Amino acid sequence: KVVAVIMVGGPTKGTRFRPLSFNTPKPLFPLAGQPMVHHPISACKRIPNLAQIFLIGFYEEKEFTLYVSSISNELKIPVRYLKEDKPHGSAGGLYYFRNIIMEDNPSHIFLLNCDVCCSFPLTDMLEAHKRYSGMGTVLVSAESANQFGELVADPITKELLHYTEKPETFVSDLINCGVYVFTPDIFTAIQEVSTHREDQANLRHLSSFETLQSPTRALPQDFVRLDQDILSPFAGKKQLYTYETMDFWEQIKTPGMSLKCSGLYLAQFRYTSPDLLAGGDGTKSASILGDVYVHPSAKVHPTAKIGPNVSISANVRIGAGVRLIGCIILDDVEVQENAVVINSIVGWKSSIGKWSRVQADGDYNAKLGITILGEAVIVEDEVVVISSIVLPNKTLNVSVQDEIIL
Ligand code: GDD
Repeated sequence: KVVAVIMVGGPTKGTRFRPLSFNTPKPLFPLAGQPMVHHPISACKRIPNLAQIFLIGFYEEKEFTLYVSSISNELKIPVRYLKEDKPHGSAGGLYYFRNIIMEDNPSHIFLLNCDVCCSFPLTDMLEAHKRYSGMGTVLVSAESANQFGELVADPITKELLHYTEKPETFVSDLINCGVYVFTPDIFTAIQEVSTHREDQANLRHLSSFETLQSPTRALPQDFVRLDQDILSPFAGKKQLYTYETMDFWEQIKTPGMSLKCSGLYLAQFRYTSPDLLAGGDGTKSASILGDVYVHPSAKVHPTAKIGPNVSISANVRIGAGVRLIGCIILDDVEVQENAVVINSIVGWKSSIGKWSRVQADGDYNAKLGITILGEAVIVEDEVVVISSIVLPNKTLNVSVQDEIIL
């Protein structure tokens, strides 16, 4: 049997995701019309002999209750949310719930970050992992950027030889994608790190040489990071291997990246769930260009023109002559006649007036590369909002550009 664990973090994480994370946990923010965490979950569903999926985080239990019960019913696989009393780090969180995770006596455990966007080639990874017969296999991708874990792998055996978390200077152009498969030996490895740390703490306690203190002294014994504390020390010991994905891979830390990833997932629906894309079934009569998701409860006027990369959530109303390109329109939004929304995220219950424009240049990595309207923002008729972030409950009656409206 196999189980999967998805690390969802908690409210103190994901601060770069504001103002969209004010009242929705980031893992539940919709990409391509489905909660962010839904995409790795549906990928897990395709693993043979999958017994259970666990979400581990330190959000309040009630934030996830509705989602886990509906997804369990839909997939016919138990999906459970396990709440940590405090952050234990990406490996510490796994270890904290080891007894529950091992209930079904799985031979393999998948571990996935919730904030990565890729095609999750999990079954292929598992096959490769069995061939390597190490303790763990890490999904890697060729990218040149230093905000990720960088690693060196043996080109023939694929063994992980060297690992550095977010290095300051160039190490390699292979990065850690935040998707892993382990044998249950991972628990022994985490235990070792944690015991070692306790020993060090005791030693320090006995020793008067303050200078002997290691830089990790501030970390509690039960806080273990998968990257620094496991991947780095276990590299080059024939325990860890790599599996390279040639497909797309992105990390979702900012609203800009969520818009980009929404588009990547919409494109992937062509292969995995074409029924979710608008236009194919003829039920939406508006003109649809490229990949578009429209929630069944949304009302879209037949003269609106929508796409590519547009995702429209529940109870949204789109008026006559509206043009939408590259945007996420969240629940209960109204976009009135002839308004235009380009490269933007429109928050829950917001309203965009007639002939208004909400837009940006669509540079997903720039701070104001997309326009974001927080929850319940009102853009009055004929107002133009360009490359701006508007916090919740604001009313805009004059046009703005390159501004953060607090
Ligand atoms: N439950 C729980 N508890 N989840 C946590 C905790 C914790 O204490 N700390 C982090 N997470 C979750 C986050 O929500 C995220 O899904 C994942 O674990 C990794 O988060 P971080 O440890 O903050 O690392 P990162 O996202 O900056 O970078 C990691 O992922 C990159 C790929 O996206 C590193 O492993 C990088 O090397 C890697 O490239």
